[in-house]
Amino acid sequence: MNAVELNHPLIEHKLSILRDKNTGTKEFRELIEEIGMFLCYEAMKDVKLDKVEIETPITKMKTGRLNEDKYAFVPILRAGMGMLDGVISVIPNAKIGHIGMYRDEETFEPVNYFFKVPKDIEKREVIILDPMLATGGSALDAIELLKSKGVKKMKFLCIIAAPEGIKKVESKYPDVQIYCAHIDKKLNENKYIIPGLGDAGDRIFGTK
Ligand code: PRP
Ligand code: URA
Repeated sequence: MNAVELNHPLIEHKLSILRDKNTGTKEFRELIEEIGMFLCYEAMKDVKLDKVEIETPITKMKTGRLNEDKYAFVPILRAGMGMLDGVISVIPNAKIGHIGMYRDEETFEPVNYFFKVPKDIEKREVIILDPMLATGGSALDAIELLKSKGVKKMKFLCIIAAPEGIKKVESKYPDVQIYCAHIDKKLNENKYIIPGLGDAGDRIFGTK
């Protein structure tokens, strides 16, 4: 598996609070946002900066600057919205698209109910956001929808990934790099991630 996993004791610490069933909505939401920000830093490690010359109060210097107009974030609704403020704090001028999808509770297949992306999406690198990569069905559908709009470069950011989901995405789209805070053990019979954190959308929005 080529997925990049954030390997840091502070991430494990934050995940331990996030996973805890006694953690309330406010803290859960804050942690999803914060880990989303760290994932975005990691995902931008390979970025090419434009060369610019600036003047500090002391002297002129040559340095690098990010062309923020080359990026778009696309959260998968609902749970992906929880990561948006964190990633936007890293690239504030990125455009934002939305893909609405939920997993059918019986078939576990994703059902698409909304799709709205920036007009020039095909010219941008797209960073897809979803805290949970479980069977990988939602991720695959999101990638396919974006490819059909002409998007060439995509990355997938999630908080927890199951090996089953990683394998599915990597075998169909090896060009889409996955970044996650942790790769968990496996899925249970209801296709929930073990040990996981439960239902991310419900815990972010307090709907259960
Ligand atoms: C969750 C999660 C992913 C999907 C992952 O969404 O946020 O989108 O399930 O599962 P998969 O990899 O097996 O497709 P959910 O269907 O619970 O919708 P929600 O975000 O509205 O809660
Ligand atoms: N969706 C979630 O929110 N959690 C899981 O464990 C699997 C899918």
